[in-house]
Amino acid sequence: MSSIYARILGTGSALPERVVSNADLAKIVDTSDEWIATRTGIRQRHIVADGETTGDLALLAAQRALEAAGVKASELDLIVLGTTTPDLVFPSTACLVQHRLGANGCAAFDVNAACSGFVYALGVADKFIRSGQSKKVLVIGAETLTRMVDWTERETCVLFGDGAGAVVLEAADEAGIYTTCLHADGGYKELLYNPVGVSAGFSDEPNHGVRIRMAGREVFKVAVKTLDALVGETLQAAGMQETDIDWLIPHQANLRIIEATAKRLKMSMDRVVVTVDKHANTSSGSVPLALDHAVRSGKVQRGQNLLLEAFGGGFTWASALLRY
Ligand code: ACO
Repeated sequence: MSSIYARILGTGSALPERVVSNADLAKIVDTSDEWIATRTGIRQRHIVADGETTGDLALLAAQRALEAAGVKASELDLIVLGTTTPDLVFPSTACLVQHRLGANGCAAFDVNAACSGFVYALGVADKFIRSGQSKKVLVIGAETLTRMVDWTERETCVLFGDGAGAVVLEAADEAGIYTTCLHADGGYKELLYNPVGVSAGFSDEPNHGVRIRMAGREVFKVAVKTLDALVGETLQAAGMQETDIDWLIPHQANLRIIEATAKRLKMSMDRVVVTVDKHANTSSGSVPLALDHAVRSGKVQRGQNLLLEAFGGGFTWASALLRY
C-alpha cells in the first residue's frame, strides 16, 4: 500500500533589521552580558521597527521559502501559521499573508500554541497532506514577541526577540515527515502567560497590561523534563534510535535546555543547530528560523534525518521527525 508523506521543498526566514545586544539592554535594566550569556546563551536579538508586524516578517519568510521551493503562491492549497502575536484579532495573520502573497482562495488559519506554534502548525499540515486533502502547503512560524515584553522587567525582557521562518511542504511518495507528536497541559498556565485579552479584558497598566508573566526557574525545570520524554516518544513513534538522527533542531529559548536535550539524545553539540545566541527566543519563529539557517549555511543536507522540538506557554510541547 502506498503512503503519502509531507516533504519539505524549501525553507525561508526573516529577521527585523534592528539588532539589540545584551550590552544595549544593560543600559535600560540592571543586567549584564555576562549574566544573560551564562544563564541563557543569548548574545543579541532582533527587534521590529515601529509599525513592523508579525505579518510583515511572515510574508518575507514565506516568499523566500516559496522561491527556494520553486513553487508559486497560486499553487498553494493551505497556509497554516503559528503565532501568539497576530497582527490583528481577526482576520488571522495567515489570511493577511495569503492575500499579500496572492494565494487567495486556499484554506488559511493561525495556530496559537505559544512557542510550539510552528511545530504544531507542521503537525496539522502533515495531517492535511497525509489525508490527501492538500498537495502543497505553506507552514509559517512568525512572532513579534517583543511587543509583549515589559522593558522594565529584567527577568523576562532579556530573553525574547522577533523573527519568522517558513517551509513549503509537498505531498510525496517518500518521506518526508515520519511522525509528529503534539501535547499540551493547560494546568501549567500560571507558570507562563499573558494576563489580558479581548474576552478577559485589558487593564490600565502600560501597554494595556499586555506582558509576559513567567516563573523562569519552574519553566526551566518542566521544559527539560518534558522535552526529555518527548524526544524518547518521538523516536519510538518513528521506530528510530538516537543514532539515526543527523541534526537536532530545537526551540531556541535557552542553551542550557538545548544542551540537556542533546545529552538525552547522546548527541554532541556539533550536531545541534543553535541560533539562540543571535536570535534569542522568537517563540514560533525559532524552530523554522534555525532550520532555514542550517539549510542555507549548508549544514543540513538532503536525505538527513532532522528532529525538531519545541516547548512553550500552555504548556504546549511538540516534535517532528523528518527526512529532509
Ligand atoms: N540580569 C541579572 N540578574 C538577573 C536577571 C537579569 N536579566 N534576571 C534575574 N536576575 C537575578 C534574579 O533576580 C536572581 O537574583 P537573586 O538570586 O538575588 O534573587 C538571580 O538572578 C537568579 O535568578 P533565577 O531566576 O533563579 O535564575 P535562573 O538561573 O533560573 O535563570 C532564566 C533565569 C534564564 C529565566 C532561566 O530560569 C530560564 O531560562 N528559564 C526558562 C524560561 C524560558 O525559556 N521561558 C521562555 C518561554 S518557555 C520556553 O520557550 C522554553
